[in-house]
Amino acid sequence: MATASGYSPVIESGDGLRVELDRDHPGFADPRYRARRDEIASISAGHLPDRPIARVDYSETEHGVWRIVSSELAPKHSRYACRAFNLAREALCLPGDHVPQLDEVSDLLEPLTGFRYQPVAGLAPLREFYGAFADRRFFSTQYLRHHSVPLYTPEPDIIHEVIGHANQLADDGFARICEEVGKAVARTESAEALAFMSRVFWFTLEFGVVLEDGEPKAYGAGILSSFGELDVFQAAEIRPLDFAEMGSMEYDITHYQPVLYAAGSFPELVDELTGFYSTYDDEAHERLAFAVK
Ligand SMILES: [Fe+2]
Repeated sequence: MATASGYSPVIESGDGLRVELDRDHPGFADPRYRARRDEIASISAGHLPDRPIARVDYSETEHGVWRIVSSELAPKHSRYACRAFNLAREALCLPGDHVPQLDEVSDLLEPLTGFRYQPVAGLAPLREFYGAFADRRFFSTQYLRHHSVPLYTPEPDIIHEVIGHANQLADDGFARICEEVGKAVARTESAEALAFMSRVFWFTLEFGVVLEDGEPKAYGAGILSSFGELDVFQAAEIRPLDFAEMGSMEYDITHYQPVLYAAGSFPELVDELTGFYSTYDDEAHERLAFAVK
């Protein structure tokens, strides 16, 4: 995920990196979890480009969280995810019994669409996060949510990044869309234009749906990694794709999304989104932003 809100900031302190958690974060009052978050942030931040990714030795508790979420999400994906996501999920075949190392994710994903995973300690700047898509690289966190609430996280942990996004990126259509997102970043200079295309990403690759047999099916990683939202997203107000509106709409990451945008079919979605991003630049942003004023 690439939004500023919802991320716990990573602060450089005298004795290393410290992850700041909100008071209402499930791990706020757990010193062992907080120390673990600091430790994993340091491992992620220490990664150097083109070097092997340092292993995180996940604990049995962390593997247990992964196992619970994997087994709870799988039947919901079969029921509520779009066909392309489910086919990609079968092709990628992520492990369900342990938290994969990011190199393990890359080794499964790269033969399918060329995408590779790289670690990031916390929020990557938008330009860096999306820009990496042009080279089919995906910046991912490595920590897990707090074990007391395995089906809830206020921020994008490795479960969101991998079960949500890697399954998605295993499909050629989604991979092409994301590559166009990365190329669009390189053509976009203004911060407003970058924020606009990031909101379109939010309402599509994070929270998008597509109509299949008259029913909204999810393809957005935000919905597909959220146990609770998978039960309720079909009750949201479903609107047709409208890039001018999506790019201008504010959203609240702390609640289930009340408005979702649907493509009429998966081929239409890929056509529309690659069309939007492949022609996007500062001028396109001006035109679209003007259209909703
Ligand atoms: Fe995401």
